Amino acid sequence: MSRTLPAPVAMPDLRGRTALITGASDGVGVEIARGLAAAGAELVLPVRNRAKGERAIESIRTTVPDARLTLRDLDLARLETVRALADALGAERVPLDILVLNAGIVLLGDPERHVSVDGFELHFQTNFLGHFALTTALLPLLQERRARVAVQLSLAAGVSRVRWDDLQSERRYRPLRAYGGSKVALGLFGYELARRSRASGAGVSVGFSHPGVVPGTAIAPAMRARGGNGVGRALSERLGGTPAQAAQCALLAATAPGEEPPAFFGPSGLFHFGGRAAPQRPYPRLSDEADGARMWELAEELLAERTTTPAP
Ligand SMILES: NC(=O)c1ccc[n+]([C@@H]2O[C@H](COP(=O)([O-])OP(=O)(O)OC[C@H]3O[C@@H](n4cnc5c(N)ncnc54)[C@H](OP(=O)(O)O)[C@@H]3O)[C@@H](O)[C@H]2O)c1
Repeated sequence: MSRTLPAPVAMPDLRGRTALITGASDGVGVEIARGLAAAGAELVLPVRNRAKGERAIESIRTTVPDARLTLRDLDLARLETVRALADALGAERVPLDILVLNAGIVLLGDPERHVSVDGFELHFQTNFLGHFALTTALLPLLQERRARVAVQLSLAAGVSRVRWDDLQSERRYRPLRAYGGSKVALGLFGYELARRSRASGAGVSVGFSHPGVVPGTAIAPAMRARGGNGVGRALSERLGGTPAQAAQCALLAATAPGEEPPAFFGPSGLFHFGGRAAPQRPYPRLSDEADGARMWELAEELLAERTTTPAP
């Protein structure tokens, strides 16, 4: 069945601006990159798989032939690559106007708990801790340009919570719980970043988005692997969006003016699965000040421990 697609959001002129997007080698991230490049931004695309990165660049250049894009290396599940990227960008004084924290994994069909080389549960590190480490390491560059940080969440962040007594899902592992918890952690971090920046006058602003449901991305089969009676799958395929549509929410989060309160964008269709990108009521749990401060401090402690005690 063909559907009328909502018009893309209006983008500001981004010529002279530089944006870094994580997870731009596939899915929604390619389309976020395409949208920013079409508006004139120069792009830094850190990827863990250069061949996929090159394919993403080829795809973007089919619609934005003069796009200025540079690949860099980043595996959020390897903290040494996060540090290396931040050090290199800092040494080169790369101007950063927009940082989009989009990369993510979900391992819903896999009941086994996976741990990164740094010793952290894989959803927790990829979706949250790696992004925390990257953003905090890039803060001097971000502050210099009074940058916007756009945080890509998920519908799951609205119905999940952080298990403070089992942050790494060591005692009880459920993939959806680990995924949802990692997105809540990312959201708490984003709000805390906005509060800290406002308090210090650092000028970094934060925007939030979620892409709804996007059945056509690489992450989607894992989401579908939850199985069930097929109703969820049928609904997501009928109501969900394309990667290009879903990217509109992140493009608004990355560029919409205004700092306070941080804006939150999602698809405006039924169940927020798909449809036109629009402002959405933020998930109240994510702006809890005590939880945000606690998550920030915990992340700093985990990273400090990791720096001083390498995994065997
Ligand atoms: N699709 C959906 O229905 C849906 C729903 C809710 C939220 N989201 C969120 O939307 C965002 C984009 O998802 P998507 O659907 O576009 O997924 P996708 O097609 O699987 O793309 C995920 C991107 O993240 C990158 N990535 C994964 N692990 C990484 C790591 N360790 N280091 C660096 N990059 C890594 C992937 O790189 P590779 O190319 O190397 O794999 C890829 O570029 C994610 O944050 C996801 O949680 C998606």
